[in-house]
Amino acid sequence: MTRKIDIFDTTLRDGEQSPGASMTREDKVAIARQLVRLKVDVIEAGFPASSPGDFESVRAVAEAVGESAVVCALSRAIDSDIQAAADALSSAKRPRIQTGIGVSSLHLQNKLGISEAECLDRVRASVSFAKKLCSDVQFYAEDAARADREFLARACEAALDAGASVINIPDTTGYSLPEEFGALIAYLFEHVRGIESATVAVHCHNDLGLATALSLAGVAAGATQVECTVNGLGERAGNASLEEVVMGIALHGEDLDAHTDIDTREILRASRMVASTTGIRVQANKAIVGANAFAHSSGIHQDGVLKARETYEIINPETVGAAQSNIVLTARSGHAALSHRLEELGFEFDEETLDTIYQKFLELADRKREVYDEDLESLVGEMGRAAHALYTLRGLQVSTGFPLTPTVTLTLADEAGEEHTVATTGDGPINAAYAAVNKIIQVENELLEFDIQAATRGTDALGEVTVRIAGPEGRVFTGRGTDPDIIVSSVKAYLDALNRLLVSQRV
Ligand code: KIV
Ligand code: ZN
Repeated sequence: MTRKIDIFDTTLRDGEQSPGASMTREDKVAIARQLVRLKVDVIEAGFPASSPGDFESVRAVAEAVGESAVVCALSRAIDSDIQAAADALSSAKRPRIQTGIGVSSLHLQNKLGISEAECLDRVRASVSFAKKLCSDVQFYAEDAARADREFLARACEAALDAGASVINIPDTTGYSLPEEFGALIAYLFEHVRGIESATVAVHCHNDLGLATALSLAGVAAGATQVECTVNGLGERAGNASLEEVVMGIALHGEDLDAHTDIDTREILRASRMVASTTGIRVQANKAIVGANAFAHSSGIHQDGVLKARETYEIINPETVGAAQSNIVLTARSGHAALSHRLEELGFEFDEETLDTIYQKFLELADRKREVYDEDLESLVGEMGRAAHALYTLRGLQVSTGFPLTPTVTLTLADEAGEEHTVATTGDGPINAAYAAVNKIIQVENELLEFDIQAATRGTDALGEVTVRIAGPEGRVFTGRGTDPDIIVSSVKAYLDALNRLLVSQRV
């Protein structure tokens, strides 16, 4: 039997640190439920001391996850952070506090302004304090990959002596080469007293595009926990991607002496859910979950795959949940067929919500005849966004053409249900519609990115718009909107981003 590798998912914490990837509490609970279906071992739900919103999200995720996974909360090596983590985890069935500090000379001198001795004191004090509040404590040695090895070993030893049961070795800046990082893990196994009874974790960033390679090198050198995110979301270039690490281990389990308990058939569903929730799309050529990951376009490749799939495919698409659905819903499909398909897509709803979704589904099916999985995912995402919106779209009339000046009349309802109507002109219909939104919601923002795509095939496909805006303090917010009419989806996406900005100003 090979070694069991724990998959520690940090989509809800490090993943959310991607610019524009902020998620609501409800978004996080829905993703946590999908992580449970994936059978991840640990879910890092957030950083409770960072904001009241994050605190509440950790609490909500802990309640939703129950016994199904360990729920971890991040804290710096500061008592108030650790206390906040413990409080947010108070209802968790299997809580874990992760606490830690920078250990490279860059962090000690530039960021923290402390000596090595002071750093070791902080490690002992913080882990001991966390241990009083929670039996499962994980220590992270930030920027470990660029730290002095001997000092790193002393810091890990201090954490173990103070009661940590998991030692997390991050390549915080994604700087290492895989061989070098593997050698670092091997060095720690040789030089840290007590490490044999601890779990050693690796947490690698993707600044050189090597995060998966680094993580697998860590596993080969003895690590038994990998920290990763769905779609590789995360700070800067992101974290190691869960799907790549898991499939790498699945395909090379014997060489690595490793296996995971992940239900790989849930991978694509998780990927789609995270992409549609955060608005951060997956590039078409992304390994495992990209639209082209199992597409063969050259004649020679197609011929090879038709003769024997393995000629050009190392993974059977069904293994990661990429089998094509042969069920196409139409306006004639009943409530039960819709509910069954939604369940297969990983959504769980009470009867009342299902009734509402069914009505929306019928409206959509009337407009576009055949309703695909992607349409259903968009529809569910749209309803989730609408449920938490401060401003909602009530009416939109657009007059455009050549050589007309586009004119828009727009009505929005505010939280209290009061309607506001304005009329504007612009260079184009979307520009005019956005000017109208800004006339009503007067909040400073800059449009950074606007992207429009068809959710499915055909000219009747839903138009899916993603926008990114920067708020007054430079924080980035992503919004999404879908509708068969692309001007409506554009307005919905902009409203979604503005609603997120407004909500963030409240907490
Ligand atoms: O990249 C990093 O070092 C981290 C730690 C907080 C684990 O995210
Ligand atoms: Zn990180």
